[in-house]
Amino acid sequence: MIQISPSILSADFSRLEQEAADVERGGAHMLHIDVMDGHFVPNISFGACVVSSLRPKTQLFFDVHLMISDPLAYLPSFVKAGADMITFHYESESDPQKTIDAIRGFGLKAGMAIKPGTDAAVLEPFLPQLDMALVMTVEPGFGGQKFMADMMPKVKDLRRWARQNHKALWVQVDGGIDSATAKTAAQAGADVLVAGSAVFGAADRQDAIDAILQSAFAGEAAF
Ligand code: DX5
Ligand code: ZN
Repeated sequence: MIQISPSILSADFSRLEQEAADVERGGAHMLHIDVMDGHFVPNISFGACVVSSLRPKTQLFFDVHLMISDPLAYLPSFVKAGADMITFHYESESDPQKTIDAIRGFGLKAGMAIKPGTDAAVLEPFLPQLDMALVMTVEPGFGGQKFMADMMPKVKDLRRWARQNHKALWVQVDGGIDSATAKTAAQAGADVLVAGSAVFGAADRQDAIDAILQSAFAGEAAF
Protein backbone atom coordinates (compact mmCIF):
# COMPACT_ATOMS: atom_id res chain seq x y z
CA MET A 1 0.00 0.00 0.00
CA ILE A 2 1.29 3.44 -0.93
CA GLN A 3 1.27 5.93 1.92
CA ILE A 4 1.71 9.71 1.84
CA SER A 5 3.52 11.46 4.67
CA PRO A 6 3.27 15.26 4.27
CA SER A 7 6.22 17.10 5.80
CA ILE A 8 5.27 19.91 8.15
CA LEU A 9 8.58 21.59 7.35
CA SER A 10 6.66 23.36 4.56
CA ALA A 11 3.60 24.09 6.72
CA ASP A 12 2.74 27.40 8.38
CA PHE A 13 4.30 26.95 11.84
CA SER A 14 1.98 29.56 13.36
CA ARG A 15 -1.02 27.33 12.69
CA LEU A 16 0.29 23.78 12.87
CA GLU A 17 -2.90 22.37 14.37
CA GLN A 18 -4.98 23.49 11.36
CA GLU A 19 -2.26 22.44 8.92
CA ALA A 20 -2.18 18.93 10.39
CA ALA A 21 -6.01 18.76 10.37
CA ASP A 22 -6.04 19.87 6.75
CA VAL A 23 -3.80 17.03 5.53
CA GLU A 24 -5.52 14.53 7.82
CA ARG A 25 -8.83 15.42 6.14
CA GLY A 26 -7.07 15.36 2.78
CA GLY A 27 -6.10 11.71 3.12
CA ALA A 28 -2.56 11.77 4.53
CA HIS A 29 -1.53 8.47 6.14
CA MET A 30 1.18 9.92 8.35
CA LEU A 31 2.69 13.26 9.33
CA HIS A 32 6.38 13.68 8.55
CA ILE A 33 8.13 15.69 11.21
CA ASP A 34 11.59 17.01 10.26
CA VAL A 35 13.84 17.77 13.21
CA MET A 36 17.06 19.64 12.34
CA ASP A 37 19.79 20.72 14.73
CA GLY A 38 21.86 23.14 12.64
CA HIS A 39 24.81 20.75 13.02
CA PHE A 40 23.98 17.51 11.21
CA VAL A 41 22.34 19.68 8.54
CA PRO A 42 22.82 23.42 7.88
CA ASN A 43 19.34 24.38 9.09
CA ILE A 44 17.39 24.46 12.36
CA SER A 45 13.71 23.52 12.44
CA PHE A 46 12.16 22.70 15.83
CA GLY A 47 12.50 20.32 18.75
CA ALA A 48 10.46 17.94 20.88
CA CYS A 49 8.30 20.64 22.49
CA VAL A 50 6.64 21.37 19.15
CA VAL A 51 5.98 17.67 18.62
CA SER A 52 4.42 17.31 22.06
CA SER A 53 2.21 20.41 21.56
CA LEU A 54 0.91 18.99 18.30
CA ARG A 55 0.41 15.44 19.61
CA PRO A 56 -3.05 15.91 21.20
CA LYS A 57 -4.33 17.87 18.18
CA THR A 58 -4.30 15.10 15.58
CA GLN A 59 -4.78 11.36 15.20
CA LEU A 60 -2.11 11.11 12.50
CA PHE A 61 0.80 8.71 12.90
CA PHE A 62 3.92 10.75 13.77
CA ASP A 63 6.78 9.89 11.40
CA VAL A 64 9.69 11.70 13.04
CA HIS A 65 12.80 12.23 10.89
CA LEU A 66 15.75 13.19 13.06
CA MET A 67 18.41 15.11 11.15
CA ILE A 68 20.52 15.62 14.25
CA SER A 69 24.07 14.62 15.17
CA ASP A 70 23.25 12.54 18.25
CA PRO A 71 19.81 10.94 17.84
CA LEU A 72 20.42 8.43 20.64
CA ALA A 73 20.85 11.21 23.21
CA TYR A 74 17.62 12.98 22.24
CA LEU A 75 15.54 9.88 21.65
CA PRO A 76 13.74 9.83 25.03
CA SER A 77 12.46 13.38 24.57
CA PHE A 78 10.92 12.53 21.18
CA VAL A 79 9.41 9.33 22.55
CA LYS A 80 7.87 11.33 25.39
CA ALA A 81 6.64 13.93 22.90
CA GLY A 82 4.56 11.28 21.14
CA ALA A 83 6.53 10.00 18.14
CA ASP A 84 5.17 6.77 16.60
CA MET A 85 8.23 6.08 14.45
CA ILE A 86 11.73 7.49 14.76
CA THR A 87 14.01 7.59 11.75
CA PHE A 88 17.63 8.52 12.32
CA HIS A 89 20.58 8.83 9.97
CA TYR A 90 23.21 6.17 9.45
CA GLU A 91 25.65 9.09 9.05
CA SER A 92 24.90 10.48 12.51
CA GLU A 93 27.33 10.09 15.42
CA SER A 94 25.15 7.65 17.36
CA ASP A 95 25.88 3.93 17.24
CA PRO A 96 23.28 2.52 14.79
CA GLN A 97 22.70 -0.74 16.66
CA LYS A 98 22.31 0.97 20.04
CA THR A 99 19.95 3.52 18.52
CA ILE A 100 17.75 0.84 16.93
CA ASP A 101 17.72 -1.10 20.21
CA ALA A 102 16.69 2.02 22.11
CA ILE A 103 13.88 2.91 19.68
CA ARG A 104 12.53 -0.63 19.78
CA GLY A 105 12.96 -0.75 23.54
CA PHE A 106 10.53 2.16 23.74
CA GLY A 107 8.10 0.16 21.59
CA LEU A 108 8.26 2.50 18.58
CA LYS A 109 8.77 1.72 14.93
CA ALA A 110 12.36 2.25 13.80
CA GLY A 111 13.66 3.71 10.57
CA MET A 112 17.17 4.36 9.29
CA ALA A 113 17.95 7.01 6.68
CA ILE A 114 20.77 7.50 4.20
CA LYS A 115 21.90 10.71 2.55
CA PRO A 116 22.36 10.82 -1.26
CA GLY A 117 26.10 10.08 -0.99
CA THR A 118 25.64 6.96 1.13
CA ASP A 119 25.39 3.46 -0.33
CA ALA A 120 22.25 1.44 0.44
CA ALA A 121 24.46 -1.54 1.33
CA VAL A 122 25.31 0.08 4.70
CA LEU A 123 21.69 -0.49 5.76
CA GLU A 124 21.65 -4.19 4.98
CA PRO A 125 22.97 -5.56 8.29
CA PHE A 126 20.24 -3.60 10.09
CA LEU A 127 17.27 -4.23 7.80
CA PRO A 128 15.92 -7.29 9.67
CA GLN A 129 15.36 -5.05 12.69
CA LEU A 130 13.98 -2.03 10.88
CA ASP A 131 10.42 -1.08 10.00
CA MET A 132 11.55 1.44 7.42
CA ALA A 133 14.50 2.44 5.28
CA LEU A 134 14.58 6.07 4.14
CA VAL A 135 16.34 6.96 0.92
CA MET A 136 16.91 10.72 0.80
CA THR A 137 16.20 12.03 -2.68
CA VAL A 138 17.68 15.46 -1.86
CA GLU A 139 20.50 16.57 0.44
CA PRO A 140 18.77 16.85 3.82
CA GLY A 141 18.26 20.32 5.24
CA PHE A 142 15.68 22.13 3.18
CA GLY A 143 12.32 21.67 1.51
CA GLY A 144 11.65 22.57 -2.09
CA GLN A 145 14.70 20.97 -3.70
CA LYS A 146 14.82 18.95 -6.91
CA PHE A 147 14.16 15.19 -6.80
CA MET A 148 17.29 13.10 -7.47
CA ALA A 149 16.10 10.33 -9.77
CA ASP A 150 19.57 8.76 -9.61
CA MET A 151 18.72 7.55 -6.09
CA MET A 152 16.21 5.04 -7.52
CA PRO A 153 18.69 2.14 -7.76
CA LYS A 154 18.96 2.29 -3.96
CA VAL A 155 15.18 2.08 -3.62
CA LYS A 156 15.17 -0.89 -6.00
CA ASP A 157 17.94 -2.66 -4.06
CA LEU A 158 16.10 -2.22 -0.76
CA ARG A 159 12.79 -3.40 -2.20
CA ARG A 160 14.51 -6.41 -3.78
CA TRP A 161 16.16 -7.27 -0.45
CA ALA A 162 12.80 -7.07 1.36
CA ARG A 163 11.15 -9.33 -1.21
CA GLN A 164 13.93 -11.89 -1.17
CA ASN A 165 13.91 -12.00 2.61
CA HIS A 166 10.11 -11.95 2.99
CA LYS A 167 10.45 -8.94 5.23
CA ALA A 168 7.77 -6.29 5.62
CA LEU A 169 9.80 -3.14 5.05
CA TRP A 170 8.58 0.34 4.26
CA VAL A 171 10.86 2.10 1.81
CA GLN A 172 10.45 5.83 2.20
CA VAL A 173 11.61 8.52 -0.21
CA ASP A 174 12.03 12.09 0.99
CA GLY A 175 12.74 15.17 -1.09
CA GLY A 176 11.27 16.59 -4.27
CA ILE A 177 8.24 14.28 -4.36
CA ASP A 178 5.33 15.71 -6.36
CA SER A 179 2.67 14.52 -8.79
CA ALA A 180 5.34 13.82 -11.42
CA THR A 181 8.16 12.23 -9.39
CA ALA A 182 5.90 10.05 -7.20
CA LYS A 183 5.45 7.74 -10.16
CA THR A 184 9.20 7.24 -10.56
CA ALA A 185 9.61 6.53 -6.85
CA ALA A 186 6.72 4.06 -6.66
CA GLN A 187 7.88 2.31 -9.80
CA ALA A 188 11.24 1.73 -8.11
CA GLY A 189 9.46 0.20 -5.09
CA ALA A 190 9.02 3.08 -2.65
CA ASP A 191 5.81 2.86 -0.62
CA VAL A 192 6.01 5.77 1.82
CA LEU A 193 6.24 9.09 0.01
CA VAL A 194 7.17 12.22 1.92
CA ALA A 195 5.99 15.46 0.33
CA GLY A 196 6.51 18.89 1.87
CA SER A 197 6.21 21.75 -0.58
CA ALA A 198 4.04 19.79 -3.04
CA VAL A 199 1.37 19.38 -0.33
CA PHE A 200 1.68 22.40 1.97
CA GLY A 201 2.52 24.73 -0.91
CA ALA A 202 -0.76 23.82 -2.62
CA ALA A 203 -3.96 25.77 -2.01
CA ASP A 204 -5.96 22.54 -1.86
CA ARG A 205 -4.06 19.93 0.11
CA GLN A 206 -6.53 17.16 -0.70
CA ASP A 207 -6.06 17.75 -4.43
CA ALA A 208 -2.30 17.74 -3.97
CA ILE A 209 -2.36 14.46 -2.00
CA ASP A 210 -4.72 12.89 -4.56
CA ALA A 211 -2.47 13.91 -7.44
CA ILE A 212 0.61 12.42 -5.74
CA LEU A 213 -1.29 9.22 -4.95
CA GLN A 214 -2.61 8.84 -8.50
CA SER A 215 0.89 9.27 -9.85
CA ALA A 216 2.25 6.73 -7.35
CA PHE A 217 -0.48 4.21 -8.23
CA ALA A 218 0.53 4.47 -11.89
CA GLY A 219 4.13 3.79 -10.88
CA GLU A 220 3.15 0.93 -8.57
CA ALA A 221 1.24 -0.72 -11.39
CA ALA A 222 4.40 -0.63 -13.49
CA PHE A 223 6.57 -1.90 -10.61
C1 DX5 B 1 14.57 17.66 3.82
C2 DX5 B 1 13.47 17.05 4.63
C3 DX5 B 1 12.25 16.79 3.85
C4 DX5 B 1 11.58 18.02 3.28
C5 DX5 B 1 10.97 17.60 1.97
O1 DX5 B 1 15.73 17.63 4.56
O2 DX5 B 1 13.87 15.83 5.21
O3 DX5 B 1 11.30 16.01 4.59
O4 DX5 B 1 10.61 18.57 4.10
O5 DX5 B 1 10.49 18.72 1.33
P1 DX5 B 1 10.04 18.72 -0.19
O6 DX5 B 1 8.96 17.69 -0.33
O7 DX5 B 1 9.57 20.11 -0.42
O8 DX5 B 1 11.25 18.36 -1.01
ZN1 ZN C 1 12.33 14.48 6.10
